[in-house]
Amino acid sequence: MLGRMPSRRDAILVLVGASCFYVFSAFVGVGRAPDHSIIINTEYADTGHTVTEITTATATATEYVTAVPTQAVAAVPVDLGLVQNFPETSVVAHAPGWTIFQNLYMSRGALLLLTSDESKFPDFRLMTSTGLPGNLTNDAERIPTPRDMAFITPEEARAKWGADGSSGGRNRVLTVEGTTLLFNDPSQFLNHFHFVAELIFGSWAFLYGAFADGTVKPPASIHFPDPSFNSPLISTSTPKIDRAIFIHTDVEGWRDAPGFNGYFLRAVFPSMTVEVQTDWIDRVNATTKTKIDRAWHFPLVLLTDRSAAFRDPITGWYTQRTAAAAWTAMAQVGKIDLIGNWWASMRAAMLRYAGGDPHEELHPTLQVPDKIVITYINRQGTRRHLNEEDNHALVTAVEELVERKNQEGKNWEFNNVHAEQLSLDEQVRVAAKSTIMLGVHGNGLTHLVLMKPNRVSAVIEIFLPGGFARDYEWTSRALGMTHYSVWNDTVFTHPNEPKNPDYPEGFHGGNIPVSGSVVAQLIDEHVSAREAGPPATDNSPVYDTHDNARA
Ligand SMILES: *[C@@H]1O[C@H](CO)[C@@H](O)[C@H](O)[C@H]1NC(C)=O
Ligand SMILES: *[C@@H]1O[C@H](CO)[C@@H](O)[C@H](O)[C@H]1NC(C)=O
Ligand SMILES: *[C@@H]1O[C@H](CO)[C@@H](O)[C@H](O)[C@H]1NC(C)=O
Repeated sequence: MLGRMPSRRDAILVLVGASCFYVFSAFVGVGRAPDHSIIINTEYADTGHTVTEITTATATATEYVTAVPTQAVAAVPVDLGLVQNFPETSVVAHAPGWTIFQNLYMSRGALLLLTSDESKFPDFRLMTSTGLPGNLTNDAERIPTPRDMAFITPEEARAKWGADGSSGGRNRVLTVEGTTLLFNDPSQFLNHFHFVAELIFGSWAFLYGAFADGTVKPPASIHFPDPSFNSPLISTSTPKIDRAIFIHTDVEGWRDAPGFNGYFLRAVFPSMTVEVQTDWIDRVNATTKTKIDRAWHFPLVLLTDRSAAFRDPITGWYTQRTAAAAWTAMAQVGKIDLIGNWWASMRAAMLRYAGGDPHEELHPTLQVPDKIVITYINRQGTRRHLNEEDNHALVTAVEELVERKNQEGKNWEFNNVHAEQLSLDEQVRVAAKSTIMLGVHGNGLTHLVLMKPNRVSAVIEIFLPGGFARDYEWTSRALGMTHYSVWNDTVFTHPNEPKNPDYPEGFHGGNIPVSGSVVAQLIDEHVSAREAGPPATDNSPVYDTHDNARA
């Protein structure tokens, strides 16, 4: 439910929070993404809320992203058993639901911010929650309590954990070395789409952006000449991620039925260690099942929390995508590019693992591809699908289009893919070479994150007429690709998409209509227009990433 509706809850939370946050300030500067306030003005015009109300949370986030420069993490771990003063907690970057800390502590299950200046930190509700599954009626139960997050002063920390006779002269603080992803979400939304296209997508956008050296300039090319155990990540300064800890989900909780989540995580981060709830409880118990206080110290942590992300209007109202809070915070200050170069590491690592050629030339603008590859994610074998007749007509119409183009001397390819009949490796390879991905709304479209964005790249998503969800719409555009929604014979694209998700009766059913000839015509016209060159003017808002990048 939480992922499906902009809720009253989010409105209330933002309104409540508004009074104590910074007023909205314009984001201007050389090399930055277009002024974010413009899009907020228009996008939210019909929600009935004022600009100030809906932008406060995002403005707060921007303060943190812009204020903090790239920070180096100590190369040599410090033994906190022997220090006089424990290092204080600082926020490297923050957007609602996404916070990078240096020197975060945990004791008795609570994340502790060690500081003598509480004013330096975002509201706890924008960083964490109780980790309960969300629904429309349990806001209050998800507001973090001191058992989830609290401040501790240096003096208190010293008194609790400092060396005394009971500890052999050592402080009772143990460092969990390296970089940790701390996922606070329960298993509720960690199925296929949400894991890769929200958690990992947002985590990488945020880490990449936070450690980017100013405005991102993509490296010239990615190539893997030598075999190695780890895929080189294409980012000059993103720290190596050592582990992910799922605080509120167990071994099965972060996995999906097709096995894509585990496959993706191991392919992209082969050396990353995963801990789950039971392991976290080990750590909690190590600080509670003892007469003396102990703590864990995390030198560098990205903490993510779905409930906190939903307190940001970008996530809670506009997209219902937690990754949107992370992506937007970084994109609007120019810390990540708008055409998916920032995501190239993940894409290339996946393709390399799947046996494809991960060589990628990264360009500051989108390129015209050599070949047009149309991939239809055919869902006829699953619950939500087209009516048989329209499916048949769609396949025929696209086949005819491709045949005609090849007769005209073009280089086009059509793949009619039943994902469930392919191995994961095969799925990755076909997605990676696609220029246009086409399909009925559903998890299979998650594979769009593997497409290498070019000037023609587009995702065509078929909905039951009247139905709409931003899952793939937002994700496509965050990578610089165009997204079209199709309601039978009607096509729309940003900024003319519905403002709110809608799941009418039959949305998930097997009788979705589509006009094959309209889809074939759309592909034909889209490709012709894009091959002919960029538009004469470019005044698109920040979300229309494709247009921004074409100039
Ligand atoms: C919402 O979640 C709470 C737990 O936080 C649960 O007690 C309640 O039954 C849930 N309500 C619905 C409608 O699922
Ligand atoms: C942690 O402590 C709780 C409460 O005493 C206990 O039930 C649980 O078994 C312990 N968990 C682990 C993993 O040791
Ligand atoms: C879908 O569009 C076609 C072509 O315009 C039309 O003939 C057909 O009746 C439409 N189907 C539905 C269910 O609206």
